[in-house]
Amino acid sequence: MPDKIKSAIFISGRGSNMMALVDAARAADFPLEYVVVVANDPEAGGLEWARQQGIEAIAISHRDFNKDREAHEKAIDSELRKRGVEFICLAGYMRILTPWLVGQWSGKMINIHPSLLPKYKGLHTHERAIEAGDTEHGASIHWVNAGVDDGEVILQARVPILDGDTPDALAARVLAQEHQLYPAAVRKIFSAL
Ligand code: GRF
Repeated sequence: MPDKIKSAIFISGRGSNMMALVDAARAADFPLEYVVVVANDPEAGGLEWARQQGIEAIAISHRDFNKDREAHEKAIDSELRKRGVEFICLAGYMRILTPWLVGQWSGKMINIHPSLLPKYKGLHTHERAIEAGDTEHGASIHWVNAGVDDGEVILQARVPILDGDTPDALAARVLAQEHQLYPAAVRKIFSAL
């Protein structure tokens, strides 16, 4: 079995997708090994969970960089390089990346977005899908490029929209699918190489 690729997960909040990835990475044949979790918010709930799993989890607050987004990313990037990270999974990371970071990690950074891209880039995706009268919704794993939620789609999961669905109820059903989808997309990427 080839060595696992040292990887990072970026989060901003509770980190349930991070948990799904870390759990999946316990399998001997999962291609990635998560060596560090990075949050832009020291209060991100997922940090503590990662530490309890024995994974280093660091907070680098964007508030310490006086709105200089690239300086914030350079601080993060330097922590990744120190640890030999070669791949990044964004999992509920709520910062828009600059072209600088995207360029550094081109072809090595993926994201999860709760919609059937290219539909509903950005926020409030569940609400927007219901309001549009869509009959299905879902989640996408995509490569990260310089646009927001814009890169090539790797894998999607579809969820029916039910009569009377609320954004919260729909989000919960999509989230359950996200937790299956993210590890499956990672496996797909590396099995295709
Ligand atoms: C997920 O719905 C993800 O698709 C979106 O933000 C949410 C993060 O949830 N980008 P969690 O922090 O992984 O629980």
